[in-house]
Amino acid sequence: MLIIGDHTFSKDEIYSNAPSAEPERQLYFCSCVKEIVKARFESDCASGEALLRYGSEQLQKMTEAGAFATFHIETYGCQMNAKDSEKLGGLLIRSGFMEVDTEAADFVLYNTCTVRENANLKVYGHLGYVHSLKKKRPSMLVGLCGCMMQEAEEVEKIRTSYRFVDIIFGTHNIYKLAELLFDRLATGRMEVDVWEGTSEIVEDLPADRKYSFKSGVNIMFGCNNFCSYCIVPYVRGRERSRDPEDIVAEIRRLASEGVKEVMLLGQNVNSYGKALGSPISFAQLLRRVEAIDGIERIRFMTSHPKDLSDELIQVMKDSEKICRHLHLPVQSGSTRILEKMNRRYTKEQYLSLVDRIRAAIPDISLTTDIIVGFPGETEEDFQDTLDVVRRVRYDSAFTFIYSKRSGTPAASMEGQVPETVVKDRFDRLLREVQQIAAEVCCRDVHTVQSVLVEEKNTHMDGYVTGRMSNNTLVHFPGTEDLIGSIVNVYLEESKGFYYMGHREG
Ligand code: 5AD
Ligand code: SF4
Repeated sequence: MLIIGDHTFSKDEIYSNAPSAEPERQLYFCSCVKEIVKARFESDCASGEALLRYGSEQLQKMTEAGAFATFHIETYGCQMNAKDSEKLGGLLIRSGFMEVDTEAADFVLYNTCTVRENANLKVYGHLGYVHSLKKKRPSMLVGLCGCMMQEAEEVEKIRTSYRFVDIIFGTHNIYKLAELLFDRLATGRMEVDVWEGTSEIVEDLPADRKYSFKSGVNIMFGCNNFCSYCIVPYVRGRERSRDPEDIVAEIRRLASEGVKEVMLLGQNVNSYGKALGSPISFAQLLRRVEAIDGIERIRFMTSHPKDLSDELIQVMKDSEKICRHLHLPVQSGSTRILEKMNRRYTKEQYLSLVDRIRAAIPDISLTTDIIVGFPGETEEDFQDTLDVVRRVRYDSAFTFIYSKRSGTPAASMEGQVPETVVKDRFDRLLREVQQIAAEVCCRDVHTVQSVLVEEKNTHMDGYVTGRMSNNTLVHFPGTEDLIGSIVNVYLEESKGFYYMGHREG
């Protein structure tokens, strides 16, 4: 039974009154959940239970926020997951919850990643801890979502060995969180709702944005590339581009709310729009975003080298707003390994692409992802990777040890490289990458750069931290009121991966 205003509704009535269109349906379930947690909260306040559970300080904050319960989201993995967590947080706030920064909350949600095995192991570690919390606080709810939940074996393992988990859902239906929470509260049963795929893109969900002045914007979902080591196409599904009109409308709205920087998100932004009813290229989308007043900086992630067009290089060159940073994952420098990885470019093609980019945009900063120890990788192949690193001179590189993901073609390839060999290559690669990065990153010292101020510096009183167009961080004296503004900063000293500076003009 649920009491809303003067009316009492049964569970069935609540379902039959639910709108069928999205996002209205989810907003409806948000208000239903809110009524349930409110009723609980009021009775816990009357019994004194709420004071014991939250303490007076948190209780005060909840009252000020108009919240009746607390939530915590642990996010693993990439920018897409971070963006999903903002949407999940938005739905929870709308459902009467307030965010807290510990797992001692009424609802703890793990937004998981499964790209490497380590990511899975971390989640199981946290599940052990949250189980101990739940034993002390049985009313608390635990949820799991994200990429790891798209794997049937993981879901089965949780169903059988982690019975205290309340809600499990995947990557395709995050917008349904409130409905799932309602189901769980109404039935008391573990809710498992994982979809294999979807063609639906639900727009206009409330989001709890982490920063007021910058925001990620999904432009596409899924991936069609099937790199042979990668599990993403299996857990995030086939590539689906959002309609450019919807993207532009969302960015206009963000700009009107004070957002200055957008990060366009997709697993492979360079193939954006190719399959839309009226096809549009990523470069054309960028031109449309560039024209939006109020947006001063545009970033995007991630670019697959095989699809990076000359048109895109031209748009970047002409642009006043597109940041001077490109993340261009190489994965390996060996043509032989790249072929086995199904990357569809050679070492020479990658290097020539880098040359074309640098010729057009000399001040661009390049970053990359590299995998060592892919099956069959020889010392010679690894030397090719070092050679690419030395030639391109990346500003930074994310280096990964190959992780076998079951179900991917690489998992059953011959020649898995012994752990000690991989570890040795990884250390040598890291040393090379770090040394080059330290040499490259100081190139702008003693110049004035425009910097978007992001936060108060947590280590130095009276300092703030901002980001240059090329993504490098700068610390300089300043006050909190600068956060969200773009200022000119003189770069006094390079500290390897960041600068110390002072405001200029
Ligand atoms: N093992 C190691 N690294 C991987 N990545 C993706 N799959 C794997 C894997 N199985 C890396 C790639 C990708 C980044 C997001 O994660 O470098 O670009
Ligand atoms: Fe994975 Fe390759 Fe798709 Fe990136 S492009 S998500 S590495 S399959």
